[in-house]
Amino acid sequence: MFSIIQINQLEALAIDSAEFKAIILLQGAQLVEFSTTDHPNNWLFVSEANEFALGKPIRGGIPICWPVFGAFDKNSEAVKASFPEPLGQHGYARSEIWSLKSTETEQNSAIACFELNTNNKPHLSATVIFRFSSEGYSIELVTQNNEAHSISMSQALHSYFPTSDIDNTAVSGFDIVEYIDTLTANWESKTQQGDILFSGETDRIYQAGSNCDIKTPEAVFTLSADNSNSTVVWNPWIEKSKGLSQFNDEDYRKMLCVETANALDDAIMLAPKASHSLKLSCKRG
Ligand code: BG6
Repeated sequence: MFSIIQINQLEALAIDSAEFKAIILLQGAQLVEFSTTDHPNNWLFVSEANEFALGKPIRGGIPICWPVFGAFDKNSEAVKASFPEPLGQHGYARSEIWSLKSTETEQNSAIACFELNTNNKPHLSATVIFRFSSEGYSIELVTQNNEAHSISMSQALHSYFPTSDIDNTAVSGFDIVEYIDTLTANWESKTQQGDILFSGETDRIYQAGSNCDIKTPEAVFTLSADNSNSTVVWNPWIEKSKGLSQFNDEDYRKMLCVETANALDDAIMLAPKASHSLKLSCKRG
């Protein structure tokens, strides 16, 4: 059921059962494909522009943004104070090669566990556990603080969902939830009314976990999140798409990101030696 495959320069774990298939790149421990017999098209958007080259984060699937989400200087003071040097956008986990720790099968599901341990300061380690079945997938990101002092960090499971038509795509579950509109000069706080629809560049941090339905012409993806109180909703739209790496100009019509996060005030404060688990589960109807 488990095999190591090569996609251009990148190694990946492929999981192939009678009921579901999955591919996870070792670079970034990034899930880039999941499908089931009932729903055989990839449940995740992956741009055809990707080169699958070492050190170039893949645009699509579920990049892991860790141990900071977004631009370093937009993080809380506590997060910024926890790192001796500013980190790059979305942290370093997505460009690192993770180690595959274990694979197992359990009833009708498959489980794969990856670890990232670097010498970066502060010394944090990450473990990600994927669980797959004919019902869907889950991804659990566990952060361990190996230091003898507290550390504040932010993160996101930056999921890219596919749609055939962004104009006929909606996200429900955030009615009357407050969000930060990061496209306004002062990051204004606004309140969502009804479903989230897409008609222009969208880059928002909702102050609620991603317990929602993503409704596209092909599918409804039902998400549930644990230990997250922030959800990023992103579509780059026309102009920004032209400057994005590993992305075609028209790809914005075929994707949306709904990111299960701990961002802004929802950053995690890890006590010495403590750990935190962030989890996303996805089913499809
Ligand atoms: C989203 C951010 O999470 O990621 C956006 O909210 C950002 O601001 C997007 O543009 C993509 O980031 P990157 O680093 O993968 O191009």
